[in-house]
Amino acid sequence: MADRKAKKICIAIDGPAGSGKSTTARMVAARLGYLHLDTGAMYRAVTLHALQQHIDLLDNDKLVDVTRNSHIHFENNGSMQRVFLNGADVTEAIRTPQVTNSIGPVAANPQVRAILVEKQQEVMRRGGVVAEGRDIGTVVCPQAELKIFMVASIAERAKRRHKELQDKGIEVDLQTLIKDMEQRDSQDTGRKVNPLKQANDAILLDNSQMSVDEQVDFVIHKAQEILAADAGHN
Ligand code: DC
Repeated sequence: MADRKAKKICIAIDGPAGSGKSTTARMVAARLGYLHLDTGAMYRAVTLHALQQHIDLLDNDKLVDVTRNSHIHFENNGSMQRVFLNGADVTEAIRTPQVTNSIGPVAANPQVRAILVEKQQEVMRRGGVVAEGRDIGTVVCPQAELKIFMVASIAERAKRRHKELQDKGIEVDLQTLIKDMEQRDSQDTGRKVNPLKQANDAILLDNSQMSVDEQVDFVIHKAQEILAADAGHN
């Protein structure tokens, strides 16, 4: 019998900030040998580029221009993924509070979103991708074989962020983090274009009481069920 190439599916992981999407997506992708597509990093890279160019983020034409001139690519470095903007490594630069606090108008711009969504769809068409973001299951890849909508209580998400910052030697008040998170949630869900929303056929995963390994196992198990069902049909 001819050796059939194993099917590779697309996995969409959406959810609010701090819900553990990135860690889960990265680990699931590594275990399946899939590509990890961090779409938040793309919005961050465009925001960084716009700040570097000192443009008004509300100037539509200039922002669209900057987006078109933002060539973003990812490189795997061991278990860590590095992000490049026009050839420069911006992995750390896109995570500063200045970038995080400036993303709102960039993520809310319909033309910016259309350009980035098209790039994301190009990657996802190849299959074998774990993409994480806010609109993957609803807009970027509604046909993804597996969709996860990952949530955790705001208290838990703020606690995790607090620990992450403490580990880096940064001390921030927990209440401030809770407020920041509430603000980002309302920005993400209240946006007119492609807001954060659970797709009808997405599996809701509340990981407030779960370990990272448990979250990863949950997604892998669901993916394996889909792959096994597909193999059974052939
Ligand atoms: O996942 P993240 O926190 O790194 O994302 C950064 C920002 O980008 C976040 O404020 C929302 C926005 N974003 C988006 O609008 N759509 C996506 N698919 C991914 C991120």
